[in-house]
Amino acid sequence: MDRVAAEQQIAKLKKRIEEESRHYYTEDNPQITDQEYDQMMRELQDLEDQWPDMVTPDSPTQRVGGMPLPFFEKVVHKTPMLSLGNAFDEDDLRDFDRRVRQGLGNQTVRYVCELKIDGLAVSLRYENGLFVKGATRGDGTTGEDITQNLKTIRSIPLRLPEPITMEVRGEAFMSKIAFDRLNKERAEREEALFANPRNSAAGSLRQLDPKIAASRSLSTFIYQIGEVEGRQIDSHSEGLTFLERLGFSVNQERRTFDDIEEVIKFVQSWTLKRPELSYEIDGMVIKVDSFAQQQELGFTAKSPRWAIAYKFPAEEAVTQLKDIEVSVGRTGVVTPTALLQPVILAGTEVKRASLHNEDIIMKKGLLLGDYVLVKKAGDIIPEIVEVLKGRRTGEERPFMMPTHCPECASELVRLPDEVALRCINPECPAVIREGMSHFVSRQAMNLDGLGEKVVASLFAAGLITSVADLYYLQDKREQLLQLERMGEKSVDKMLQAIEASKENSVERLLFGLGIRLVGAKAAKVLAEQFGDIDHIMQATAEELIAIDEIGPKMAESILTYFSMPQVQELIEKLKNAGVNMKYKGVRVQAGEDLPFSGKTVVLTGTLTQLTRQEAEEKIAMLGGKVTGSVSKKTDLVIAGEKAGSKLEKAEKLGITVLDEEAFLALLS
Ligand code: IVH
Repeated sequence: MDRVAAEQQIAKLKKRIEEESRHYYTEDNPQITDQEYDQMMRELQDLEDQWPDMVTPDSPTQRVGGMPLPFFEKVVHKTPMLSLGNAFDEDDLRDFDRRVRQGLGNQTVRYVCELKIDGLAVSLRYENGLFVKGATRGDGTTGEDITQNLKTIRSIPLRLPEPITMEVRGEAFMSKIAFDRLNKERAEREEALFANPRNSAAGSLRQLDPKIAASRSLSTFIYQIGEVEGRQIDSHSEGLTFLERLGFSVNQERRTFDDIEEVIKFVQSWTLKRPELSYEIDGMVIKVDSFAQQQELGFTAKSPRWAIAYKFPAEEAVTQLKDIEVSVGRTGVVTPTALLQPVILAGTEVKRASLHNEDIIMKKGLLLGDYVLVKKAGDIIPEIVEVLKGRRTGEERPFMMPTHCPECASELVRLPDEVALRCINPECPAVIREGMSHFVSRQAMNLDGLGEKVVASLFAAGLITSVADLYYLQDKREQLLQLERMGEKSVDKMLQAIEASKENSVERLLFGLGIRLVGAKAAKVLAEQFGDIDHIMQATAEELIAIDEIGPKMAESILTYFSMPQVQELIEKLKNAGVNMKYKGVRVQAGEDLPFSGKTVVLTGTLTQLTRQEAEEKIAMLGGKVTGSVSKKTDLVIAGEKAGSKLEKAEKLGITVLDEEAFLALLS
């Protein structure tokens, strides 16, 4: 190839690659395969190797170009990178609106409402259409030059379609999936884990070696445009559309509103929808749309008067580990729980965090008195994600797991292949009490009005020594009324619930008995296959293992359990009390044609006629399998009210979607 032909081919490839990158990284809509993309990159690289003087800074090969830097240069921002004032509730937003209207002498105002991306603020400078400098926010006045690292982010255009000179600002971030993947790899290499996607994005961009940033799958959303010479842009929303046209990644969830009450509704809707996003947000940003009005309102010393950040209640907080409590569960497993200095997390007070087992205490090097970062995601129990070792004073003390059961003082053992310590005393009061709590729980016998606390007090008062005793409580009314917080009404309610539970289908009882390794699903399968408890008790190992979901270990556990005389006595006592021992669902025989036979079903949105658990039970009973996420393997999606991204995905994939009414019709 001669020089002219090479030059033409290089120009063509650069254009194609950047176009395809935009489809892939900015628009999330790839048009070619990864192989085709790699092939073009390889061809370009080969040509540039042959003609090194033709390499330009905007070539896609230059995204990971340079050598590691010795340090980052400082960058003084042309206009300071300000932060925003905060709003923590609806009234703060109404106050903001009042201030804006007052400031504008009651002109009409339009607001743009955007997601507040939880990443790292960056500023990008373009000269004559070429990306020349990228910086962190720093202290707002001076940041660090991280151009090399930002160039590795594919959603940042290296060259714009027009020779524009301007500065734009936005957020660099790591998606939840990229974050999980990164931490998994780090765990495999036994490297320290990142606490959250924000820290890992910031950590990646502060690497002196751009190859590290390049390996980290970072993304951007641009949310601010500086002055553009020779172009008249009158509003923020117009600016965002213009940025989109130039090839920047601009968040699609933005909306404009004329009324603060509409803004509030939108903000509230995102408080709920937030977990559905593939990236983290920590709030919403509300901005006055018109640039003329923005100018009129101006700035305070720290932040613009024309914008405000609404912060969602924090899901992470720093607090102190006061002590570690050790408790014994129904299987005898001893679990440590962190007792924390109370702290507000996602709007509620948190005092305890799960530590799972001793291993975690060791791995994290946790000491009593340590400051820790606690995190809560959705309605999951809070967890300690990081120990702030830098805040240690030397006063911290190591924690020792006990060698004896905190409730019955018998020696704890570690079974082979298990991390957990166990109390193996079958008479241990903790094991019995917790076993009873499990029996009454929602997934088991579902005894409404008989929570953990009531069970504990019935047990402590000697009114029940086994779960069967619950069914003989109606003769002990007087004693029940003596218990703390037990009035006529609550006793009636409790006895009614106990009576009603006698009619449960037998899988609830089977699960409630707490047979080792037998979860709710296995209990269901057993009930379905054998029809009643007598047949299950008589089943042989071969018959049990012949069932798909049941392996040799579970079979052995079932046989051992039912061979115990005290278990046989317990079942007799339950039978005599009138507790149902039969499977009441539809028994599935191989090949039987049920409405959901062999179908993989996803439930999304809110159902009004039945709870999600009930819906799942019904689908399973009618032959279906319920899974959490929509994929090509999904056969059917049942969409209740306010269904969101799962419904969208189902529609995209052309999967059959039923609304609640159609679903109920199928059930009947
Ligand atoms: S506007 C002068 N819009 O939140 C106004 N900021 O204190 C500049 N952020 O550090 C900010 N998403 O990094 C704006 N859609 C968004 C944002 C956003 C995230 C960050 C930004 C800044 C902080 C606000």
